[in-house]
Amino acid sequence: MQENRGRFSSRIGFLLAAAGSAVGLGNIWGFPTQAASNGGAAFLLTYLVLAFCLAYPVLMVELVLGRHARGNPITALRRISSGERTRAGATLIGSVGVLVASLILSFYSIVGGWMLAHFLSAIAGLAGFDQWSAWLTGFSWQRNVLFTLFFMLLTIRIVSKGVESGIERWSTRLMPSLILMLLLLTLYVLTLDGAMQGLKSYLIPDFSRLWSPSLIVSALGSAFFSLSLGVGTMLIYGSYVDESESLPSLGAQVTLLDVGVAVLAGFLVMPAMYVAAHNGVEIFSASGELISEDTLIFSVLPALFDTMGVAGVLVGLAFFLLMSIAALTSSISMLEVPVATLIENSSLERGRSAYLVGAVILVVSLLIISQFSSLFGFVVALTTRYSQPLLGMLFCIYLGWIWHRDQVLQELKRGSPDVAQGLFWKVWPVWVKYVCPVFVLLIFWQAL
Ligand code: TRP
Repeated sequence: MQENRGRFSSRIGFLLAAAGSAVGLGNIWGFPTQAASNGGAAFLLTYLVLAFCLAYPVLMVELVLGRHARGNPITALRRISSGERTRAGATLIGSVGVLVASLILSFYSIVGGWMLAHFLSAIAGLAGFDQWSAWLTGFSWQRNVLFTLFFMLLTIRIVSKGVESGIERWSTRLMPSLILMLLLLTLYVLTLDGAMQGLKSYLIPDFSRLWSPSLIVSALGSAFFSLSLGVGTMLIYGSYVDESESLPSLGAQVTLLDVGVAVLAGFLVMPAMYVAAHNGVEIFSASGELISEDTLIFSVLPALFDTMGVAGVLVGLAFFLLMSIAALTSSISMLEVPVATLIENSSLERGRSAYLVGAVILVVSLLIISQFSSLFGFVVALTTRYSQPLLGMLFCIYLGWIWHRDQVLQELKRGSPDVAQGLFWKVWPVWVKYVCPVFVLLIFWQAL
């Protein structure tokens, strides 16, 4: 099995794939909307602290576990467990992780489908097919079903091609263009009237909001979602990394890229909202709350693009293309979790597994679409707000309390032989063993 497992062919290939997984709707849609509805700068500050102090250590746990076991989350946790009970626990935690990854994909593919639809709508608008264009952006179940299917098929096709010629190839193509487009759009929006006010609310914190428990839980969920943690995505990507690579530095680079793109997206979306407000679009309710989360990108931004005339159509097209790309490099990393697990536990080959698992997840997506108002928000909260941080905490407990410290060091030394002398090894093991679990629990306890 070891020989025919996929591998990333290069360091940059892994970096772009992992960053591609991390950078997604969570960064460009989730983070800025949450920041906007949680007092801007206060949220940004909390998010930064949590991303570096809790999410990065957990990312490292997943990468080390994955490369050591060269397998799916269930195998990886079982391999480091010695007792009967810890092994049963490993199977349970790993399986829940695989399940949660699949559930996340079931709602993510719906949102990914909206992005594709908005992109095509911009094209239809340019070509003069106004009715089509309106249908594509209208919220109908027909549109939702069609585009979820479309998005899922794209995801399945890439995953069925494997690690190097599927995931890595597409991520290395798509990620750089994404960052470039994001930068250009941001620079453009910052030149518009009203942008400065948005910038202010993004950068000057209202300290009175800093300690609100709900803000902290949201920021925690946001950070874990944004770095794709807790469900084995990064563990599996770690299992495809070469022995000669230094994991702590790879992990740090992925974190920096991910946080960087989220912060950058804030520079785009927050000012864009105020520009829209400047142009007469209503974004805040009378009580000062943001009207509703998903209206932000799907009505405020298109309304902004509309005010820009013909240029606006092009900007809208670029923006939704960017969103589609970001969503796709993330969705492939979600599907990879159940697919890799299935391949390693059955005789099915990759292509079949990808289509089979994809079809099952699609059925769940259709179920969500059919009961959208009651199921969508529920599945999002269940998986991202609660499951991800809690599972991440359990990974920490397995690494800190069950795995032998020497073996952890052995694994880290592959690719970074001097790691034992550095700061990382002085802080991280203790941090993962005590600080991460206690903090995650405290945050949840506070919120309850
Ligand atoms: N991190 C991605 C984003 O920000 C989403 C994502 C990809 C993800 N893989 C994941 C989230 C696994 C949770 C679990 O959009």
